[in-house]
Order: sequence, then structure tokens, then C-alpha cells
Amino acid sequence: MLWIKSFHIIAMVTWFAGLFYLPRLYVYHSQALDSISIDRFKVMECKLFYGIMTPGAVVTIGLGLWLWFGYGFSGNWLTAKMVLVGLVLVHHFWCYRELKAFRDGVSPRSHIYYRWMNEVPVLYLTAIVILVVVKPF
Ligand code: HEM
Repeated sequence: MLWIKSFHIIAMVTWFAGLFYLPRLYVYHSQALDSISIDRFKVMECKLFYGIMTPGAVVTIGLGLWLWFGYGFSGNWLTAKMVLVGLVLVHHFWCYRELKAFRDGVSPRSHIYYRWMNEVPVLYLTAIVILVVVKPF
């Protein structure tokens, strides 16, 4: 079980690296004016989303479910954790929707908007890690 949990945590770090960095790229992309920078951001965003962030999400969830159902974990902490993981997935799909909008040349929102969205995963990560390590309820 400890090997599964180790790779669960490694995959989670990979997922959150993308959840933190992709909105940061959107901050700079939304302010870019020249086509060379804009094209470079599109390539970086696609590679980050499809090459790192989404595989990280799939492995985190797969190994998490293996831990949950394979080793009989239960408790209100796990229920609360699953609600928060659901919100993290919503944020993941928000990243995908913005990725498509940038790729299709839809005029982006303001960089202020992306700066605020960049902070959201910090709240989820803090709450999830406290829930699963401390198990307060
Ligand atoms: C469907 C998604 C997920 C499921 C079903 C799941 C389930 C689990 C289970 C059953 C454990 C073992 C708990 C224990 O050993 O006490 C665990 C450990 C852990 N999970 Fe998840 N998890 C999921 C997603 C996540 C996410 C998104 C994060 C981070 C933000 C995360 C962070 C952790 C950490 C840090 C541990 C190690 C806790 C410890 O060793 O005390 N998990 N997870």
C-alpha cells in the first residue's frame, strides 16, 4: 500500500504543478500582443495540459480509488476530500475551456481575472492535505 500511496502523492504533485502553472501562463498570454509570443504560449499551454497536468490527474485519481476501495478506507474526511477533489476537477476543466478559447483566438479575459483564478488551487490543496493527513473528522 505504501508504494501506491507514494505514487498517489507524486502524481498529485504533478497534477497541482499544472494547476498552478497553467493559469499563470494565461496571465501572461492575455497580455501578449505579438504573434510569436502568442504562438509560443499556445504550444506551452497545450504541452502542459495534455503532457503533464491531465496524466497527473488520471494517475492521482486512479491510485486514490485503488487506495480507497483496495484497502477499505472510510470516514467523513474521505467524503469531504472527495467533494474537494470534485472542485479540483471543475478547476481542471475550467483550465481546458480557457485553453480551447486561447487556441481558437477568442479574446481572453483580463489578466486580473487569471491572477485570481491562479490562487484557487492553493485553497483546495491546503484543505485536501489537512483532511487526509490530520483526518479532523
Ligand atoms: C479521487 C481522488 C482521490 C482519492 C479516492 C484519494 C484517496 C486517498 C486515500 C484512501 C488515501 C490513504 C489515506 C491514508 O493512508 O490515511 C490517500 C492518501 C493521500 N491523498 Fe488522496 N485521494 C484522491 C485524490 C487526492 C488529491 C487530489 C490529493 C491532493 C491534493 C490527495 C492527497 C493525498 C495525500 C497527501 C495522501 C497521503 C496521506 C497520508 O499518508 O497520511 N489525494 N488518498
